[in-house]
Amino acid sequence: MIKYIVQGGTRLSGHVNISGAKNAAVAILPASLLVDGVCRIENVPDISDVRLLLEILRNMGANIRRFGRNTLEIDCSHVRNATAPIDLVRRIRASYYLIGAELGRFGHARVAMPGGCNFGVRPIDQHIKGFEALGAKVSTDRGMISAEAPDGLHGAEIYLDMPSVGATINIMLAATKAQGNTTIVNAGKEPHIVDLANFINAMGGSVKGAGTDTIRIRGGRPMHGCTYAVIPDQIETGTLMIAAAATRGDVLIRGALPTHMEALTAKLLEMGAHVDEGIGEDSIRVRSDGNHRHVNIKTLPYPGFPTDLQQPMSVLLSTARGTSIINETIFEMRFKHLEEIRRMGGISQINDRIAIIEGVPKLVGCPVTATDLRAGAALVIAGLMAEGVTDIYNVHFIDRGYEHLEDKLRSLGAQIERLPA
Ligand code: EPZ
Repeated sequence: MIKYIVQGGTRLSGHVNISGAKNAAVAILPASLLVDGVCRIENVPDISDVRLLLEILRNMGANIRRFGRNTLEIDCSHVRNATAPIDLVRRIRASYYLIGAELGRFGHARVAMPGGCNFGVRPIDQHIKGFEALGAKVSTDRGMISAEAPDGLHGAEIYLDMPSVGATINIMLAATKAQGNTTIVNAGKEPHIVDLANFINAMGGSVKGAGTDTIRIRGGRPMHGCTYAVIPDQIETGTLMIAAAATRGDVLIRGALPTHMEALTAKLLEMGAHVDEGIGEDSIRVRSDGNHRHVNIKTLPYPGFPTDLQQPMSVLLSTARGTSIINETIFEMRFKHLEEIRRMGGISQINDRIAIIEGVPKLVGCPVTATDLRAGAALVIAGLMAEGVTDIYNVHFIDRGYEHLEDKLRSLGAQIERLPA
C-alpha cells in the first residue's frame, strides 16, 4: 500500500499541464471494439483505470501498442467475444461500457457488474432500458449482466429518466452499430460524452447533437480505424484550480479548456479568488490571497457544478469565512471525506444529501484515509493547505484518475512524498 506525506503551508506557483480526460478515455477505449482496424489514440492519461481497461481489452484479443506514456494504437480486428476477466472488470465502473461496445460489435455481451467508487447504489436501469429499446434482451444473474440481440439491434427513440453520463455513453456505443436511427432524449451533456461522439464520428460513425440533451445516431454505417486525441481532463483541471486557491497560490494551468470550467470558475470568483481565462484559449490562471467568502454549492449534471469537484471544493470551503451549504443532488453518499476533514479541525454537519460547512481559521495536518478517487484528491488539497504534516492513506484511489499527481504538485512547489504505507 502507498501513502502520501504532505507538508502543508506552501503556496503553489508556476505552471502545470493537464492530462487527457479519464472519463473520456475510459469510454473511447471500449469504443475501439466497434471497428476492425487500428485506432491511434493520443493524450491518453497514464492512470490505473486506463491501464486496467487496456489489460481487459488485451485479454479479449485486442492488439495494443504503446508509443510513449500517452499514445497508443489499438486494433480490435481479432477480438473474440470472450467474457472479460471478472476480477478486472469488477475493479472499475467504466468496464460496463464493454456491454454497449460488445453488443454493438457482436450482437451479444456478458460482463460482470461493474465496481467503481462507492457512494451509493449506482444502478444501471437506464443503460438496460436503452439496450432493450434497441432490441436486446438483458438479464442479470450471479453478478453478471448478459445482453443478447439475436435479430440484431435496431434504431429506437430512448428517453432517459435522468441525464445519466454512463447510460448516454453505453447507448451511444450500441446504437452506432444498430440498423437504423436512434435518438437519445434527456441525454447527458458532459464534455466526455461529446469527446466519445467525436471519436465515433472519426471512425466513420454518425453521432449528432452530443453536448445537447438530444443526441441522434445513424447506425450501421461502414466504420474504420482513425487517429484521435482525448480532450483535457475537466476534473483534474478543477482539482488543480481549487488547490491553487486553497494554498493562496498563483498557478497557470495549461492545456485546460475554460469553457468546461465555467461552473467552478463562477464559484471561485464568488469566493474572492481570481481566475483569468484570457491568456490563451487553452489555459486558466488561478490566484488567491486565501481570504475566501463562503458560498453554496448544488451539484448538477453538466453544465452545472460537477459532482466530481464537490469533494475538493468542500475542503476549500472548510476555511472560508462563514457557513457554506453543499447540496449533492447526484449521489446519495458522497460526503465520507468530511469525516476525515473533521479530524483536521474542519466543522461540518451532514443531513442526507446536504452538508453544512462552518469555516474555521485553519486545518491541522494528521493521518487521514481516502475512501474514493475524488475524496483522495480532496484530502491532498487539505494536506497542502493545513498546518503541519498530513499522511494520506489509500493513494491507490487517487492513482485511478490522476496522472502522477505528486509530480505535478511538486513542480508547483508542493512538499509531497509518495511512500510505502
Ligand atoms: C460518471 O458516472 C462518472 N464516471 C463519474 O465520475 C461522475 O461522478 C458521474 O458520471 C456524474 O458526472 C465515469 O464517467 C466513469 P451517471 P456514472 O450515470 O456514469 C443515477 C469520477 O470521479 N443513475 O451520470 O455512474 C446514478 O445513481 C467518477 O471520475 C440511475 O439511477 O454517473 C446517479 O445518481 C465518480 N440509473 C445519477 O444517475 C442509471 O441507469 C448520475 O449517474 C444510471 C445512473
